[in-house]
Amino acid sequence: MKPKVVISYGFRNEVIEQFKKRLSDIAEVIPLPEWMSSKSLQEIRNAEVLVPLHEFVGEALLEHAPRLKAVSRFGVGYDRVDVEACTRRGVYVTYTPGILSHAVAELTLALMLCLSRRMMEADRYVRTKWAMDGRTMIPLGNDLQGKILGIIGLGRIGLEVARRAKAFNMQVIYYDKLRRLEAEENLGVKYVSLKHLLKTSDFVSLHVPLTPETRHLISERELRMMKKTAYLINTSRGAVVDEKALCRALREGWIAGAGLDVFYEEPVPLDNPLLKMENVILTPHMATHTVETRRLMVATVTEDIRRVLSGEPPLNLVPEQKGKKFHIQDKN
Ligand code: GLV
Repeated sequence: MKPKVVISYGFRNEVIEQFKKRLSDIAEVIPLPEWMSSKSLQEIRNAEVLVPLHEFVGEALLEHAPRLKAVSRFGVGYDRVDVEACTRRGVYVTYTPGILSHAVAELTLALMLCLSRRMMEADRYVRTKWAMDGRTMIPLGNDLQGKILGIIGLGRIGLEVARRAKAFNMQVIYYDKLRRLEAEENLGVKYVSLKHLLKTSDFVSLHVPLTPETRHLISERELRMMKKTAYLINTSRGAVVDEKALCRALREGWIAGAGLDVFYEEPVPLDNPLLKMENVILTPHMATHTVETRRLMVATVTEDIRRVLSGEPPLNLVPEQKGKKFHIQDKN
């Protein structure tokens, strides 16, 4: 019998087909009808690899997966995987860093452009009022050129955002736990304190992983420091921002608007107040949703699955497990 690779019910059919095609010679790929139902737990019991999408993988699930060798995250964020619990059980945790950074950066810039050039409003205007008005009556937008972009977290994705913003002739400042001297030199980005960044940026863009340290990194105090004309862009994780405070900030005009791809609760419930606001643009956690990037993600994840199933350590281990080699033969 071939080893079982159990994947989340949330994947699109074309991604499931790509998984099957790439692994058919060495594994049986089983998409779950749902996560953690009694039927799914039967599959999980025999799984050697699990590929979750947004589901939480912690002790409660691992207990049901005695044969598990790897949890392969289809994405770069692994805040919903308990890495310590996996490590204790000798289970690899892999992810897909690097290959998706440009896609997230492109969406970040798209959100900035949509906000500064009032694209959503403009589209609605053409469809409803322009013909009647006779001349263009929507308010003027703003140039990106010359504006200050404050990047919080200048890692792989933050850097790609900085490169693109520089091509738009923006000034780029950043705040991070670590100084990125090479980027400062090569790209001309400037390191500043978080407070300085919040007080001076025209756009604040978040590119940090969700950790206990970054949860609610942006809450009332930080939002109140921002300029009234500034926009907040979040393509990282919803919980990096205190969403209640953000709603107040948007409603009461502490900031001009927001571009959000990620939320506290996903899918966003229809009674979330953000859905009624005009000064926000909302996208459904789709920063990596391009044909090219999703293909690369499947290739990266399946390559690591092949390695694990043939007894080799994967190439894309999360940093907490870097250099580890588990004796996975014992689980067969
Ligand atoms: C997307 O959210 C990812 O983690 O890559």
